[in-house]
Amino acid sequence: MIVLGIESTCDETSIAVINDRFEVLSNVIYSQVDLHSQFGGVFPELAAREHVEKILPCFEEALQRAQVKKGDLSLICAAYGPGLIGSISIGLTFAKMLSLTLNIPFVAVNHVHAHLVAPLLENKGAFDLFGAIGIVISGGHTQINWMRTPLDVETIGSTIDDAMGECFDKCAKICDLPYPGGPHVEKLASKGDLIKVPLKSCKVRDAPLSFSFSGLKTQVLYAKKNPLYQVEDICASFQHVVFKDLYQKAILAVEKFQAKAVFFGGGVASSKSLRGYFKDFPCPVFFPSKKLALDNGAMIGALGLLQYKKLGPSPLDIEPKTRIPFPHLTEKRDSLELKQVATTAV
Ligand code: KG4
Ligand code: ZN
Repeated sequence: MIVLGIESTCDETSIAVINDRFEVLSNVIYSQVDLHSQFGGVFPELAAREHVEKILPCFEEALQRAQVKKGDLSLICAAYGPGLIGSISIGLTFAKMLSLTLNIPFVAVNHVHAHLVAPLLENKGAFDLFGAIGIVISGGHTQINWMRTPLDVETIGSTIDDAMGECFDKCAKICDLPYPGGPHVEKLASKGDLIKVPLKSCKVRDAPLSFSFSGLKTQVLYAKKNPLYQVEDICASFQHVVFKDLYQKAILAVEKFQAKAVFFGGGVASSKSLRGYFKDFPCPVFFPSKKLALDNGAMIGALGLLQYKKLGPSPLDIEPKTRIPFPHLTEKRDSLELKQVATTAV
């Protein structure tokens, strides 16, 4: 099977071609970062307009790089959320149109769920390592999930305020660094002292796997006003506190669920520094490469393919959604057995 994956939930227009051996034949990503950086965040109306401009060239380039033709495609997958309604609509409508005109099935995919299966594209052996803990850390989402299988996912911890990437972006803004802030914070952090600024992570009462970042953002604000601290030290201390907190929660989740592995997804998971924290973790930890960590079409194709093999196609009248809580696949399909799907897909 040749599968097309379409992602347009936020500020990346991405289309990928993968096959049913989970090989990525192309993964074209048009990032809008430069367009939005002048506003210090994503400007939704501009994002949607840019998707309209880029979706067709992105499609043509994805086919060309994969060396396939429209007629070779056998499945169309697209993200239907969570994200910005205007942006999602462009990719979703394009996918439905392709499915109708090419007369091939269509699958609607939860893009946050897709982040969790992205590492499987680069580590086929990891299909044997479920139940696992899946952690999404991006600009819009921060959650820890228990994955019985790649399709059977339950959220066991999430943020009660900002997302982790959003907190990196806010810390960067306070430190006068450009948007998106994560990579800039990481770069400065490498030159700073990680214990110089006494920052503390925030705990959520009675919810040891939940996150809270708003208090940390305020601590960064005060630290920046303190002439004793260099911006490099603030970035180093901030990153250290966030990643140490994440490490402790990951350990707790693995112990509680006796998980065999941890899968990471989302933009923050592209941090090289984060990998250092998990070097001696007690079970295998999988980080996607940068292109598969950010929003991308390949992960949409991957999850769409798994869903199609187990659950069949999605209805063409499915609409874009800003929020899709787990377990989203079982909503109308209680009778279907979701387990052991992974091994049948590769
Ligand atoms: O997954 P993503 O591309 O988009 C969303 O769906 O949000 O993630 C973007 C987020 C931004 O907040 C960005 O600052 C953060 O990922 N990010 C990083 C790093 N690279 C990107 N955060 C920390 N360290 C990094 N190296
Ligand atoms: Zn995302």
